[in-house]
Amino acid sequence: MDNRRPLIAGNWKMFKTCSEAVETAKHLVKLVSTSVDVDVMIAPPFTALAQVSDVVKGTCISLGAQNLYWEAEGAYTGEISPSMLVSAGCRYVIIGHSERRQYFGETDESVNKKVKSSINNSLIPVMCVGESEKERELNETFSVLDKQVKNGLEGFSHDDLKTLVIAYEPVWAIGTGKTATTDQAQEVHKFLRTTLEINFGNMLAKSIRILYGGSVKPNNIVELMSMSDVDGALVGGASLDPETFSKIVQFQNRT
Ligand code: PGA
Repeated sequence: MDNRRPLIAGNWKMFKTCSEAVETAKHLVKLVSTSVDVDVMIAPPFTALAQVSDVVKGTCISLGAQNLYWEAEGAYTGEISPSMLVSAGCRYVIIGHSERRQYFGETDESVNKKVKSSINNSLIPVMCVGESEKERELNETFSVLDKQVKNGLEGFSHDDLKTLVIAYEPVWAIGTGKTATTDQAQEVHKFLRTTLEINFGNMLAKSIRILYGGSVKPNNIVELMSMSDVDGALVGGASLDPETFSKIVQFQNRT
């Protein structure tokens, strides 16, 4: 895995009220407070960010948002700017999740603008890419991913992308209980790294963390993390329960 520090990220999606989010975060802090040798991030809904930030401050858990809008401020009803996220305590932001692409009209072009504005505001972007079941069946997996990566990162320099994290989330594996096999995950992660190498050079390709997402659970994390190009996980359903998520975070204890 070269020198890439693993990142285990929890995407809470549209779950948890403020008080539920605070309770979950407090419980998680207790379970993972002994410093683990991985980076840990949780992404609660916007409404709970500031309160959860107070809970995780000074712990090994970082805060992330699930989306942002690229403008600094203005008449954009319902949107949240990068500096608002920073002021709420965020360090990371998830961009281009397949649910946003599927239900909210997110495109590679909007993903590109969001990645740019997150970098400009010192937020670490976690850019999601992934193929649908149909695209996989039609053997289009690599061409779809190549396009998502190239378009999403168009116009960036090597230096811009130093903190970038990519999350490979096959759409057919999200919330379905179907996980890509470890070999399927490794094959795609290697492809993504090669794409990065071709476009941004070997040094950057080697340093960028590529997470796997899609039905990650305590019982498959160890095998996934044994793959040389899998540098962590973006966890949805299994991140909502602190006991379960802490087992994923502490996967190294079971290797
Ligand atoms: P899942 O979701 O772990 O529930 O499959 C992953 C994600 O959508 O980030």
